[in-house]
Amino acid sequence: MVETSSPRVLSGIAPSGVPTLGNYLGAMRNWVRLQDGYDCLYCIVDQHAITNWQNPAELRDNTRIMAAVLIACGIDPEKHILFHQSAVPAHARLAWIFNCVARVGWLNRMTQFKDKAGKDREAASTGLYVYPNLMAADVHAYHATLVPVGDDQRQHLELANDIAEKFNHDYGVKFFPRIEALITPESARVMSLRDATKKMSKSDSSDQSRINLMDDADSIALKIRRAKTDPLPLPETFAELKDRPEAINLLGIYAAITNATPAEALTQFAGGGFGPFKEKLAEALISHLTPISEQAKKLLADPAFIDTTLQSGARRAACVANPIVDEAERIIGFLPR
Ligand code: TYM
Repeated sequence: MVETSSPRVLSGIAPSGVPTLGNYLGAMRNWVRLQDGYDCLYCIVDQHAITNWQNPAELRDNTRIMAAVLIACGIDPEKHILFHQSAVPAHARLAWIFNCVARVGWLNRMTQFKDKAGKDREAASTGLYVYPNLMAADVHAYHATLVPVGDDQRQHLELANDIAEKFNHDYGVKFFPRIEALITPESARVMSLRDATKKMSKSDSSDQSRINLMDDADSIALKIRRAKTDPLPLPETFAELKDRPEAINLLGIYAAITNATPAEALTQFAGGGFGPFKEKLAEALISHLTPISEQAKKLLADPAFIDTTLQSGARRAACVANPIVDEAERIIGFLPR
């Protein structure tokens, strides 16, 4: 495998809705932090979004909202690269090669396809099925080696390594490097506010199931007040929360947002009911998230700025990806472009 001299960070997010607290705690917050030590590329993966039908006007809006929220969270599009996937054709070129490298058996094991396709798998788009190959291409087109994600993407990144290894083996090269998933264990899986057995998702049909990063203070307070809980008081130790997924989830969110451990967070509320805890949780979320939504709203007032920022990001991204994908095509025997 190839060693790159300075590790490059790449990650992606699908504009299939407004980003949620789950996206923020699981991934985006890490994206911001990594900018201090690495060259980072952050990609709004609109080609992934259309694996499920998207209303075109909403897709365009959500792409802009995603860019605005990312910048508002602290992504610096000048020092790093922020772009939308469809504007860099190198992703699709490499994805096709990977469609021919990955095995059907490998894709059959992808749990996210099973979840997303639901019971009627025959009716799922073929794009949804081969989506992990495109995701592998998103990373390998840049020889990126560090990929900050939430836990639900772990299996896809393992597949991306299998694809790279098979490509290298089949063509007798050391071209694609191994990639490492960067997952923050404490907030790797933020769960739905309505059903703590399901992950919080921007595409869940219930808006009450999630905090959106564009929610105002009143909506955040209401959603937290209505979040599902159980009738028991909060215990002294985290171990006693076993089998109480709603309490674990809400305490985990509180801990993540206040930079405490779940055990530390629990000591503040032990013995009490959910009422006072939820009030503190809503307060902490509002003070952390409303500056982000307000800044994002300001940025969205100038859509031309967002579009130019993404286009400039795409041009810079293409300068990195094109020579790598050109070389991958040369390795497999395509004539030069
Ligand atoms: P997406 O858009 O579903 O989510 C973006 C990021 O947010 C994380 N995440 C969560 N983390 C914790 N709790 C949750 N409830 C939660 N929901 C989402 C995801 O793990 C992800 O890191 N396939 C990817 C996007 C992608 C990508 C890539 C990622 C496309 N190409 C290349 C890394 C590298 C996806 O659909 O993410």
